[in-house]
Amino acid sequence: MAGECTADKGRSFLPQLVTGGILPVMETTMTNAMNLSKRALGVPTSPTLAITARVKELKAAGEDIIGFGAGEPDFGTPQVICDAAVESLRAGQTRYAPTPGSPEAREAIAAKLRTENGIDCSASDIIINNGAKFTVYLALQAIVNPGDVVLLPTPAWVSYKPMIELAGGVVREIPAGPDSDFKMTAPQLEQALDGQVRAIILNSPSNPCGTMYTPDEVRALAKVLQSHPDVAIIADEIYERLVYTDEPYLSMASLPEMAEQTITINGLSKTFAMTGWRIGYACAPGHKGEVIKAMTRLQSQMTSSITSFLMTSIPAALQKATAEVQAMRETFASRAKLIHGLVSQWPGVTCPQPTGAFYIFPDISGCFGKTSAGGVKIKAAMDFASALLDEARVAVVPGEGFLGCGANHVRLSFACSEEDINRGCQRVREWLDQLT
Ligand SMILES: Cc1ncc(COP(=O)(O)O)c(C=O)c1O
Repeated sequence: MAGECTADKGRSFLPQLVTGGILPVMETTMTNAMNLSKRALGVPTSPTLAITARVKELKAAGEDIIGFGAGEPDFGTPQVICDAAVESLRAGQTRYAPTPGSPEAREAIAAKLRTENGIDCSASDIIINNGAKFTVYLALQAIVNPGDVVLLPTPAWVSYKPMIELAGGVVREIPAGPDSDFKMTAPQLEQALDGQVRAIILNSPSNPCGTMYTPDEVRALAKVLQSHPDVAIIADEIYERLVYTDEPYLSMASLPEMAEQTITINGLSKTFAMTGWRIGYACAPGHKGEVIKAMTRLQSQMTSSITSFLMTSIPAALQKATAEVQAMRETFASRAKLIHGLVSQWPGVTCPQPTGAFYIFPDISGCFGKTSAGGVKIKAAMDFASALLDEARVAVVPGEGFLGCGANHVRLSFACSEEDINRGCQRVREWLDQLT
């Protein structure tokens, strides 16, 4: 059944991610010696960031680790984008900038959304933020009241649930499994909607699943949501240009009937290899600009604008880095094929073909109940990931933090070299062969 999870449901993921092995400690609770707020105490560390940090540490200590954990391109930022930032810095653009972004940067984003995504919008419908992660957070803060239900199709990116809860919202999961390529269906969506639902987060292509809603599937979901106009759609499209199927990408907000209901979120991190720059944005046409104004008010009290001398890099990225983006996309596409072929050969493991983003999400529940060469009894994805890192020196992200059937899966990012993909997959295969 879609979303059915066979992992040991009694185990709670984060506090137990460390099973005495090499994975980092991820605390959800800590002693309250400093009178920390319940809010702060309740937020778990992002497991993906923690694992990435741990792999860096181990590599720095000279360990031969192959990391499939990091959700960031292994390429450098295209030169033309860097040049724009350096020029701005040299020209002295070092003072505060307008909170939602410079007019030129906002217009460049609006032009991109109009021409590439078919979203009818203008510069005033755009706000630029410190990374798309913060954009999602701000959008939720702008529209969710305490007690509001936010629908979350799962498996889902690890940060959505904490961010919904930080806004006082209540997560209602819509579970989807490998049999539907981890995509909820229109009837499932219809069933989850009631008067308490304030918003839904749609992430396509998906982190962690690496699959994308086809245009027909987007239209089917739109048809359902159209009859619930009070439900806001937060469409996280950060991987929208990293697509490896013949199907075109369809943005929810490009459907004229959905434009007012949708907050489109995107950013430069993934497509342009700019994860460290922290540039994300939202587009929310309609409602007389109230959503963007609310997000701007919130941001003005939190971070002000993004770094001012990065504003000119936004038009540079969107208008002048086409060839570099295409080359990176082609490389990801061939890695997607390579890693899918290799993972499909792992004994007892099944996996849909990745069609977007740079993740593959194999079902490793066939290993549950087995014991590794190092003596670890594998009862859940976290045991699998921990023993794999300990014994084979390969880092993957255990799926429990992604909710839903994620507990049966591990996530591998193929934002790494073909050599690492070949060597890492071989190591995993040999390690799997030794399970008893
Ligand atoms: C689905 C999804 N949304 C948003 C983000 C955040 O991107 P940024 O680096 O722009 O904050 C990520 C990053 O991993 C992601 O996977």
